[in-house]
Amino acid sequence: MAEKTVILGVTGGIAAYKAAEVASRLVQAGHTVKVIMTEAATRFVAPLTFQTLTGQPVVVDMFAAPPVWNVAHVAYAAAADLVLIAPATADVLAKLAHGLADDMLTTTVLATRAPVLVAPAMNSSMYLNPAVQQNLAILRGRGFHMVEPETGRLACGTSGPGRLAAPEAIVAAAEELLRPACDLAGWRVVVTAGPTREALDPVRFLSNRSSGKMGYALAQVAAARGAAVTLISGPTALAVPPGVERVEVTTAAEMCAAVLEHFSGATALVMAAAVADWRPKAFSPEKIKKGEHKSLLLELERTPDILAAVAPRKKPGQLVIGFAAESSRLTENAREKLLRKRLDFIVANDITRSDAGFASDANEVKILWPDGRVEELPRAAKEEVAAAIWNRAVAARKDMADAAPK
Ligand code: CTP
Repeated sequence: MAEKTVILGVTGGIAAYKAAEVASRLVQAGHTVKVIMTEAATRFVAPLTFQTLTGQPVVVDMFAAPPVWNVAHVAYAAAADLVLIAPATADVLAKLAHGLADDMLTTTVLATRAPVLVAPAMNSSMYLNPAVQQNLAILRGRGFHMVEPETGRLACGTSGPGRLAAPEAIVAAAEELLRPACDLAGWRVVVTAGPTREALDPVRFLSNRSSGKMGYALAQVAAARGAAVTLISGPTALAVPPGVERVEVTTAAEMCAAVLEHFSGATALVMAAAVADWRPKAFSPEKIKKGEHKSLLLELERTPDILAAVAPRKKPGQLVIGFAAESSRLTENAREKLLRKRLDFIVANDITRSDAGFASDANEVKILWPDGRVEELPRAAKEEVAAAIWNRAVAARKDMADAAPK
């Protein structure tokens, strides 16, 4: 990829030290990284750290004599292919949302035409505060891109959302915005994500542990690469990625109907959803009471197999990609699904691993092809895995076009 200029804004939070790894990874990827720190950020990490990692002067004070005279805020704003703010504190989010420009970073953001990517990090009570959430909504509405914070242990000892996203995830999101090619332009893609829920009574359901993150990453990356994306999603806690049309469903039957409706006009379908295979045979309109019963026997019936319903409707040129979540015999089971569901390729992951797969921000997958090839992808952020899957889809579609009778 051609070298790009990234303006990395570092604001004053404990996560500022992680911005050093973000800077280092961007430099290793071949980009020019120019760092702007707020005054508060310099209390956490010395500017020299970033200067050493990037080989570029670090700007803190807007009024200090610049080391080179064209390093004025407007020059930075104009040079940027991307402005990335990591970590972004509640304070900087408020300033950006309201157009304040009282330091070099906020001034640069106001003056730039480049995309702006923001990675918030703060205490979870602050993050969940309506003032912060409203500022984030304002920024999203204005086209700012976000790398959502992770949920986990925070420096203040509590746990909740607010921890800066992993440096790999931030860099993957940055690369997506820097990628010049819109290689999915003209594609209509349908992605399914999340679990389905099968109701037993008005308060209970059968479901599974899918978080939806892999499917949402696929939708987000496809949209960023120019595709028109319909995301058919079971219940998840995730926000709709920018530019994506979301269709919300609850049950496997609803997901099946939505997929069949959207598949006819689609270039590609990716079934990343963890569809419940079973549903209660009878739905009790009343809450099932314990009463005197010592045990309860549930009778379950199969839900529709969505990919099996899609297979006979597949037209030449349409791609169908499946996932296989396996706890044993990964390759063998995935190969069997690839062939039985007549897929163009299948993405297999081992769900017994705690550091990848379900609810994790990372994934480690194998891709199996009908001709017997097996590719093992390294463990990476779900956005990076999503990009790798779309690269394979582009290649598969090209092979189809080459093989089609002229
Ligand atoms: N899938 C589907 N419809 C279902 C169940 C699964 O279309 N009712 C899709 C999934 O979205 C995934 C692929 O089929 O892309 C494989 O799903 P998986 O749960 O791994 O396999 P199953 O077909 O359900 O087989 P098994 O439960 O025996 O592993």
